[in-house]
Amino acid sequence: DCRSTHVFVVMGASGDLAKKKIYPTLWWLYRDNLLPSSTFFLGYARSSIEIKDFLNQKCRQYMKIKPDEEQRFQEFLEKNFYLTGSYDKSESFVQLDLKIVEIAKLGKCENVEDANRIFYLALPPSVYTSVTKLLSQNSKARKPHFTRVIVEKPFGKDLKSSNELSAHLSTLFTEEEIYRIDHYLGKEMVQNLIVLRFANQIFKRIWNRDSIECVMITFKEPFGTQGRGGYFDEFGIIRDVMQNHLLQILSLIAMDSPVSKNAEEIRNEKVKVLRTIPELKMSDVIIGQYVGNPNGQGDEKMGYLDDPTVPAGSTTPTFCCAVLKIKNERWDGVPFILKSGKALNERKAEIRIQFKEVPGDIFDNTCARNELVIRVQPDEAVYMKISTKKPGMNFDPVETELDLTYKHRYEGEYMPDAYERLILDVFLGSQINFVRTDELAEAWRIFTPLLHQLEQQKPKPIPYVYGSRGVPDADELCTRVGKYNYSNT
Ligand code: BG6
Repeated sequence: DCRSTHVFVVMGASGDLAKKKIYPTLWWLYRDNLLPSSTFFLGYARSSIEIKDFLNQKCRQYMKIKPDEEQRFQEFLEKNFYLTGSYDKSESFVQLDLKIVEIAKLGKCENVEDANRIFYLALPPSVYTSVTKLLSQNSKARKPHFTRVIVEKPFGKDLKSSNELSAHLSTLFTEEEIYRIDHYLGKEMVQNLIVLRFANQIFKRIWNRDSIECVMITFKEPFGTQGRGGYFDEFGIIRDVMQNHLLQILSLIAMDSPVSKNAEEIRNEKVKVLRTIPELKMSDVIIGQYVGNPNGQGDEKMGYLDDPTVPAGSTTPTFCCAVLKIKNERWDGVPFILKSGKALNERKAEIRIQFKEVPGDIFDNTCARNELVIRVQPDEAVYMKISTKKPGMNFDPVETELDLTYKHRYEGEYMPDAYERLILDVFLGSQINFVRTDELAEAWRIFTPLLHQLEQQKPKPIPYVYGSRGVPDADELCTRVGKYNYSNT
């Protein structure tokens, strides 16, 4: 497949994201022979570093290199280049262009005049505008080669700033050239949602307000800000995981059947369902902030406000439970609960679809609701809670599970990391798992009025203890407004 060389440029190559995520991912893709045969990697940042030493010394601990892969790793190192440059001067981006052309010549492909270019912007938002402008002016590929730009969140802070950023990007790149990463879309079970829903007749007929009582999407993490408080405080849990990761999951669960599995068709349906969700109000949410656990160990003793990088008296939520409505024919009246928090009792991301009670229950109202659980992490699983006859000399229903736990069913199967899938998608030109401009705008529309109200009124979040289940009042909201039945679980 060697018509053109590919050059993957890591902008912000000396930073944390590049070190912990991007370079390890590139190594795995290279190791597994998944990339086009003539691919090179070019790091770019302000600091002057020796890229091979950087990969060998700083990144190695994240790369999981096995002893018999050392030779392959040396080959990978040989494919890596580095250029020091600024983020705000044209000359640097002209140099970047020349460097890519120079690398293209090494590729031994048919066309050595230039290369396909993928730019990963692993950069702080403060330099986004200037970097994207200078890139588009000086470092785009010459036709017929392509240019693709991978953008990381935050995509703005609210609807207005996000629209400004989108408008800026759209003057520089076409929608097909922009890849907005939401790494949850690269997770195995999130990708599975489309297959589960649209490849199973049994789900098609019941996937609506006639059969489903409520849907709960949960994200829990057992650690706090871990010194990232400065960043986190500007965003809070709503912007950090709800407006993006959880809402993406929601749209995949709630969207109508797309015309095909083409990226545009799928994203059209996601946008369509997002458009039917009313903006969130204060009464739809419960917010919390963790406090230290005096009986805990180490970090658990530290509350959010004890983090020295968090401003004193901050009212930024580290926990939020929100109930969203979808005003369309399929879902009207079915609450969608989004629940997320830092410093909780466990690491878990899962989706719970709770079905309506059995009408005319002949078992003295003892039948529990059916519930379809899709566990995104850890331990990927799909299981359906059903009632079955308790084995033996009786006739009583008992709750059990039809269980598809991946580690049992697919033992030993390689499960790629979310970033691996997504970066490979960019090489392949597939935008199914990337966020389109209009989708992003809808996501911000739903959350912006609430975020502004929280910032203006600064209501005090409800304290919850590090390592607990979060704010107890959230359960009440989930039951009363969210119609969720806890006795089921
Ligand atoms: C990121 C958030 O987008 O997702 C982090 O900024 C969060 O705060 C992370 O920890 C969670 O990702 P994962 O893949 O570990 O669930």
